Amino acid sequence: MNRSFSYEQRVGIDAIAVHVPRLYVDLVGEWATKRAAELGEPSVEALIGKVQKGVGVVEMAIPDAHEDSATLAAMAAVKVVLQAGIDPREIGTIAVGTETTVDQSKSIAAYVLGMLERRFGIDLRESGAPQFQFACIGATYALESTVNMFRARENTKPYGLVIATDVSRYPLLSPGEYTQGAGAVAMLISENPRLCTLDPRVAGTITRDERDFFRPNGMSTAVVDGKYSIDVYLDCMAEATKLFLQRSALEAKRNGADVRGERLDQRVDHLLFHAPFPRMAEYAALRIIGEAWRSNVEQFPFLQPLLEQAKLSGDTQAMQRAFEKSLAASKPFQEFFAARVTPSLTLAKRIGNIYSGSMYLGLASLLESSPDRSRLAGSRVGFFSYGSGASARVFSGVLVAPEKAYKPHILAELCAETAGGSRVALSLADYEHLHRGPLALEGAPASLSQPLPSIRAAAGEFALTRVGAESSRARVDLGYRYYDWIPA
Ligand code: HMG
Repeated sequence: MNRSFSYEQRVGIDAIAVHVPRLYVDLVGEWATKRAAELGEPSVEALIGKVQKGVGVVEMAIPDAHEDSATLAAMAAVKVVLQAGIDPREIGTIAVGTETTVDQSKSIAAYVLGMLERRFGIDLRESGAPQFQFACIGATYALESTVNMFRARENTKPYGLVIATDVSRYPLLSPGEYTQGAGAVAMLISENPRLCTLDPRVAGTITRDERDFFRPNGMSTAVVDGKYSIDVYLDCMAEATKLFLQRSALEAKRNGADVRGERLDQRVDHLLFHAPFPRMAEYAALRIIGEAWRSNVEQFPFLQPLLEQAKLSGDTQAMQRAFEKSLAASKPFQEFFAARVTPSLTLAKRIGNIYSGSMYLGLASLLESSPDRSRLAGSRVGFFSYGSGASARVFSGVLVAPEKAYKPHILAELCAETAGGSRVALSLADYEHLHRGPLALEGAPASLSQPLPSIRAAAGEFALTRVGAESSRARVDLGYRYYDWIPA
């Protein structure tokens, strides 16, 4: 390896792979029929309309009893290693971002490291394996840390592994219920990456101490103030975007060679948002593209009447809402959104919120749904990351050779098992049974109980096989989670 130091070296994502549970809930079927009355909706059709059009999801992935954030992460990691065709012994660090860790103390990355060692028969003991927690933005901080390690030439091996993994769970019968999901995204980080070089010195980060969404210790479902969480997301994203644009402009001046304009839609070609549900990406695009166009209204004369109309709405917030509503209905915005954002949402519609992996699922979705990946080469991607609590980070990268670096795999897996894919629809009873989880031993937390029997037995995958129950002088493993590779 060349060890000379340069801020200009190209570092980024060499390969990306996704793993989601095979079980899913169809939000149009039995679920909608029962929930419409339970949620007080006027009709089943009204609930389906709200979930499909208003929120933008049609299916959500649900982990089986033997799956959790650790197994999903390890499965995504195995996939990225096999798809990239690298020797897994060349991985020198494993960083995991998660909101739904499996232990209060041990890093989930250490579990993943052990699973990779067993699966590939290798020794990864010389790797670092930290866990990053900050709601849905944890994996972005894991990525930043790993990329900077490579930029500073502190890496000891050619690849770093960054994994975003989560199981999103809200109480049944709450408005959050239809924004659940589960899955993991694994990315290999390297110098001279084949997939996406990340731009140095342009990231804009904002952090505010907020209560929009959280999960108190001991609770398995999130607490969220839904509408407020949307407002905090939008405010933080707008602020982080402003910083990103300022830093990008400075960089462009410094480099001299970048002839792009300074408006957001000139700086980036594709916009990947943290998408807890697909409509959220539309709200975010309306806010930041709305601001970009509005500040250059002479270039967008169609906005003038929309702005005049919005001014009649009252206070600043009402004005903003009215302006964004009319912008959403305009042809220029709809064309912009369809070309620059929609391709990144195809998978989220069918998987749901995977928390820390959501924005990276957007990258996979863009790659997966493009009919000719070679046409994406050289285009600049804007990453709009968000985690409740709350932090937003906006950064960018340039796609290198996506036709070579990415092997489509997710859309095929999302086909029904009977049609050659791997998906299995859950009955409402099985979904609710899995949601409730194992029954707690008397007076003990549910995490100490054995896993429930699986809906579909594990095969060709990592599985949680048992939870330790010993607490004697000879051995202590009470509550420890044991994972094994189960052959197909
Ligand atoms: P809700 O009460 O279910 O929905 O809450 P609503 O009544 O606000 O309606 C939603 C949209 O559906 C509206 O569209 C309705 O008009 C429309 P809009 O007016 O905004 O354009 N609608 C319909 N459309 C067509 N046909 C119909 C129909 N009926 C209504 N029949 C909410 C929705 C997202 C708030 C809820 O599901 C929730 O609380 N989800 C969880 C929280 C969340 O995802 N927040 C997002 C921001 S925070 C974040 O992203 C971080 C997070 O990922 C966690 C982390 O960081 O770790 C959550």
